[in-house]
Amino acid sequence: MNVNVMTHPLIQHKVTLIRSVETGAKDFRELLEEITLLMGYEITRDFPLEDVEVQTPLVKAIGKQIAGKKVAVVPILRAGLGMVNGLLELMPMAKVGHVGLYRDPETLKPVEYYCKMPTDLAERRIIVTDPMLATGGSASAAISLLKEKGAKDIQLMCLVAAPEGVEVVNRDHPDVRIYVAALDEKLNEHGYILPGLGDAGDRIFGTK
Ligand code: PRP
Ligand code: URA
Repeated sequence: MNVNVMTHPLIQHKVTLIRSVETGAKDFRELLEEITLLMGYEITRDFPLEDVEVQTPLVKAIGKQIAGKKVAVVPILRAGLGMVNGLLELMPMAKVGHVGLYRDPETLKPVEYYCKMPTDLAERRIIVTDPMLATGGSASAAISLLKEKGAKDIQLMCLVAAPEGVEVVNRDHPDVRIYVAALDEKLNEHGYILPGLGDAGDRIFGTK
């Protein structure tokens, strides 16, 4: 299985808090944003740098600045929205595309209902966000859609993943790097991740 599990102690601590059934929507949203920011710090580690001249109050010096591709953050609606602000805090110039998919509760297959992307996807590094990677159907469909629209450099960032979902994305999109804060045990008979954290969209937005 090809997946990067982010083991930083702060991430692991916050994942435990966010799993708890006692955590309400406000705290859930705040924790999700904090975890996303910490994960974002890790997944941008390979950004290339270039030298740039900087005038300090005293002398001219050579500093570093980020070079290379610009970024687009693409949340899978709805729950992926909860991971956008953490990344925008780190990369305020990133563009944001949206893919609307919901999982049919009977078939567990993804149903597309919305798509709005930046026009220059092919020139950007794309970070797809969704807290939950369960069967992998939604993430795989979203990535296929992005590829149809020209995306070539894609990272998938999830909070909690099931092994089944990782395998589906690895199989369908071996070029896509997957980053998760937790790799859980399995899916239950309704396609929910165990131990998981329940329905991420409902917990973010207070619905049921
Ligand atoms: C959840 C979650 C993922 C999907 C994961 O979304 O946010 O998008 O399920 O399941 P999968 O890996 O089996 O496809 P949901 O369909 O509940 O929609 P929501 O975000 O609007 O709540
Ligand atoms: N979607 C969720 O929100 N949670 C799960 O456990 C599985 C799919």
